[in-house]
Amino acid sequence: MSILLNNNGYDNQTWYQALTTAFPDKAVHIYDQIVNLDETAHEIEYAVVWNHPNGDLQRYPNLKGILLLGAGTEHIDADDNIPHVPIVRLIDPEVIKDMGLYVLYWVMDQHRLYDTYRVQQQQAKWHRHNICQPSAFNVTVLGLGAVGKAVANGLSMNGFSVTGWDAYPQQLNNIACFHSTDQLATAVEQADVLVNCLPLNASTQHFINSDLIEQLPVGAMLINISRGDIIDDDALLSALDNNQLSRAVLDTFSIEPLPSASRYWQHPKVTVTPHMSGATYARSAVRLIADNIRRIENGEQPFPLHQPPTP
Ligand code: GLV
Repeated sequence: MSILLNNNGYDNQTWYQALTTAFPDKAVHIYDQIVNLDETAHEIEYAVVWNHPNGDLQRYPNLKGILLLGAGTEHIDADDNIPHVPIVRLIDPEVIKDMGLYVLYWVMDQHRLYDTYRVQQQQAKWHRHNICQPSAFNVTVLGLGAVGKAVANGLSMNGFSVTGWDAYPQQLNNIACFHSTDQLATAVEQADVLVNCLPLNASTQHFINSDLIEQLPVGAMLINISRGDIIDDDALLSALDNNQLSRAVLDTFSIEPLPSASRYWQHPKVTVTPHMSGATYARSAVRLIADNIRRIENGEQPFPLHQPPTP
């Protein structure tokens, strides 16, 4: 019996090795290298996938589990033909730690004016700027799931003033948490930096739009480590152009790879990174996936289970 592997082109070979080592008795089939899918389909028991083609997973009659290669679930949620087997998210502490460090880096960059000093160096200009204490520098984290919580806690532990907002009530030590659309304006009105950690779903599409951006203090910075579709790109670009926002650091985009024609590439106030704030590496994540496959094999419950939205 075998495992279907599709990491959407990212490091399939490394994953292949890691899964083959973890399960020497199972064949691992890389999705886009399968020669005769109709013949192989009945062997597949586990699908280890990321951004897998819609409708494909119903082709495996002996499928026992779908193991996602990432924390986000919007791809699988968009598939109306998912077989009734456990769907398991990947919440890898190493990935979450990396995302927290990514955000901390850019928040520090903004707070300490490192971007200004980079420009000053090009001009051989020696000039020190006064800045506020970190405790007076406000960061609002939108979305307090596993990633948002870690991001918020990491910033707070480093002395920043952190506010959290989530669709549902949440509690975090030393962090003022707000919830529901009624409290959104209060959550963002002081934000020197707004960090997007929201999941992408029907209610978060273009959540960061001109209405929300206008509620931020003038000169705020936006960091997006979640999904590009949560941002209204036109609204963001015009807010940068008219100085409502000072900067945007964007790790995710509506279309990835980011098309070369995108204005983001050349925009002087935008930093583009290629969806690497929390890259999933087989070296840490394969153990979590292998443990969950073993749980299913032993009749135990894998975790964390994902509940697809009801249509
Ligand atoms: C990556 O974007 C993930 O969802 O883990």
